[in-house]
Amino acid sequence: MLSNYFALGLALLAGAGPATVSASPSRYVYFNKAADDTYGWTVTNWAAQYSEDDALCSYSFNISGPYSGGQMPIPAFVAWCAGAGVGTPYTLCHITDLLNTTKRRQVAAKLIPTTEVEASLAVTYKFDDLVTADSWWNYTSYATEPYSNTVAGGQVSLNGTGARNTTTFTMTPSEVSGVA
Ligand SMILES: *[C@@H]1O[C@H](CO)[C@@H](O)[C@H](O)[C@H]1NC(C)=O
Ligand SMILES: *[C@@H]1O[C@H](CO)[C@@H](O)[C@H](O)[C@H]1NC(C)=O
Ligand SMILES: *[C@@H]1O[C@H](CO)[C@@H](O)[C@H](O)[C@H]1NC(C)=O
Ligand SMILES: *[C@@H]1O[C@H](CO)[C@@H](O)[C@H](O)[C@H]1NC(C)=O
Ligand SMILES: *[C@@H]1O[C@H](CO)[C@@H](O)[C@H](O)[C@H]1NC(C)=O
Repeated sequence: MLSNYFALGLALLAGAGPATVSASPSRYVYFNKAADDTYGWTVTNWAAQYSEDDALCSYSFNISGPYSGGQMPIPAFVAWCAGAGVGTPYTLCHITDLLNTTKRRQVAAKLIPTTEVEASLAVTYKFDDLVTADSWWNYTSYATEPYSNTVAGGQVSLNGTGARNTTTFTMTPSEVSGVA
């Protein structure tokens, strides 16, 4: 199941080719989910401030992802993210767990413009392939979560969304790209 899924992706995106990643390096591939259906990230301590002025919106949270084995291994990570502004470029998060390999990892987050009075959050996790040199992966996930409070300029009532009072939630990557 897993290998069929992966081979199909490679064939569609890179032309008919071998069914393994390592056999043919340096090709761009894309999937709309992780190979492991159960793979996801846990966000805790979610706090976000709303303002009608995009520049004054801000967020902070902790996030972690487990190690995922199988055909497309994903290294674990623990990080905290904080940033301000809506529609800004990704802001790097701070990875806080000890790296158990020589591979590079990068977590970044940003708020995306939305018409809702809720925060539209994007998080990306980019890492070197655990097995193949010069290969890397970029997992991206999106979530819409309530702002926790308002700051200067925030005039829209948050009562409706605030009722959810969410500080912990799960993010499931929906864009997976890489050079493999
Ligand atoms: C959670 O994030 C806060 C900053 O928002 C940071 O100080 C703290 O160390 C983080 N906790 C963990 C376990 O990474
Ligand atoms: C580091 O990786 C090795 C080999 O995969 C594993 O046995 C060990 O438990 C890992 N240590 C930590 C702290 O993750
Ligand atoms: C990862 O993928 C996302 C979604 O396609 C993209 O917006 C982001 O720029 C990529 N990040 C890196 C570091 O390549
Ligand atoms: C929204 O919250 C404010 C302040 O807590 C309160 O005064 C107001 O009555 C609330 N509105 C609704 C519709 O619950
Ligand atoms: C919202 O969550 C915070 C943190 O978990 C908690 O302290 C607070 O009592 C909650 N508020 C409501 C109205 O549930």
